[in-house]
Amino acid sequence: MTALLRISFGRHHTYLRISLSEKCNLRCKYCMPEEGVQLTQKSQLLTTDEIIKLTRLFVQEGVNKVRLTGGEPTLRKDLTDIIRNLKTIEGLETVAMTTNGLVLTKRLVELQRAGLDLLNISLDTLKPERFELMSRRKGWERVARGIDLALQLGYRPVKINCVVMKGFNDDEILDFVDMTKDKAIDVRFIEYMPFTGNKWDVDKMVPYKDLVEIIQRKWPDFARLTDGPSDTSKAWKVPDHEGRVGFITSMSEHFCDSCNRLRLTADGNLKVCLFGNAEVSLKEALRSGCSDGDLRALVSAAVKRKKRQHAGMMNISQMPNRPMILIGG
Ligand code: GTP
Ligand code: 5AD
Ligand code: SF4
Repeated sequence: MTALLRISFGRHHTYLRISLSEKCNLRCKYCMPEEGVQLTQKSQLLTTDEIIKLTRLFVQEGVNKVRLTGGEPTLRKDLTDIIRNLKTIEGLETVAMTTNGLVLTKRLVELQRAGLDLLNISLDTLKPERFELMSRRKGWERVARGIDLALQLGYRPVKINCVVMKGFNDDEILDFVDMTKDKAIDVRFIEYMPFTGNKWDVDKMVPYKDLVEIIQRKWPDFARLTDGPSDTSKAWKVPDHEGRVGFITSMSEHFCDSCNRLRLTADGNLKVCLFGNAEVSLKEALRSGCSDGDLRALVSAAVKRKKRQHAGMMNISQMPNRPMILIGG
């Protein structure tokens, strides 16, 4: 790896999250502001060629994993092409995607053929009527069928992302843990995070420690596993269950020291931290004819500006940022 993506408090940036769309076919309250978002004109979104060109450059600098996000990445018509093209980049080992799962039954076979390696699916409730309440749309059954299909097609593990919110789904924790019993499913409980327009409130957040306590009351042997070096998730397991349970503790125990992530927004900005609003437009640089050397210099300067850690739970809740839908997680 060259030095370019290493220079931020010893962190190695080997993981690029690429947002492919600002749109979504759900309207989850923790992600999409009630009033919606101002969408970028199509001509100002990164094209497939631009995405591939930029990814190639990042891979030359040491990135080995890409995760496609959104909005909802499956709304991007050229998604299959994007995956196929990404898979031709030498040195890029993994192409992953995070999706709300709504169209997997229609598209997953084709996406897998194109080379999609890993799949994370968002599902915050096991009750269809609650799904509709949170996402302001119907579709729970379709997501459930999408999860089954992912397992059938051999995705291992299928990661289920569950954002926990007090008074909404915190009575379903044990039901989610049961999903790991005899399926290769990793359920990850995510602490509710603040983004512009999502009405975050500390009292709605259920911290990691409380979640573990709830689970240990039923499963006293619930055990901590060892995490990978840059995992965002703290892994645990009910002994004898096939899948694992993870906790993404961005709020109560941040994991910035081992952060290996960079983000490319759908409108072409490099965002070096989920909670940092310093962005640089790689799209403008590309479109104004910058050389690869100029692009590298821009990326390098941005990575150097990346803060050691985010500013703390209450500070980031006051800080202007993009709405989550325009970042992609
Ligand atoms: P893998 O580790 O590659 O499986 O994926 P992931 O868990 O990083 O990605 P996913 O898109 O499934 O995101 C799950 C949750 O982790 C979301 O709520 C993201 O916002 C959060 N997350 C992902 N990356 C970061 C990060 O760098 N910092 C913080 N604080 N949260 C992150
Ligand atoms: N807090 C925590 N996680 C969130 N996600 C979206 N918005 C939030 C939030 N405010 C999750 C989605 C998806 C992942 C990319 O980020 O549920 O699984
Ligand atoms: Fe990385 Fe920023 Fe997330 Fe910390 S908050 S883990 S630095 S993206």
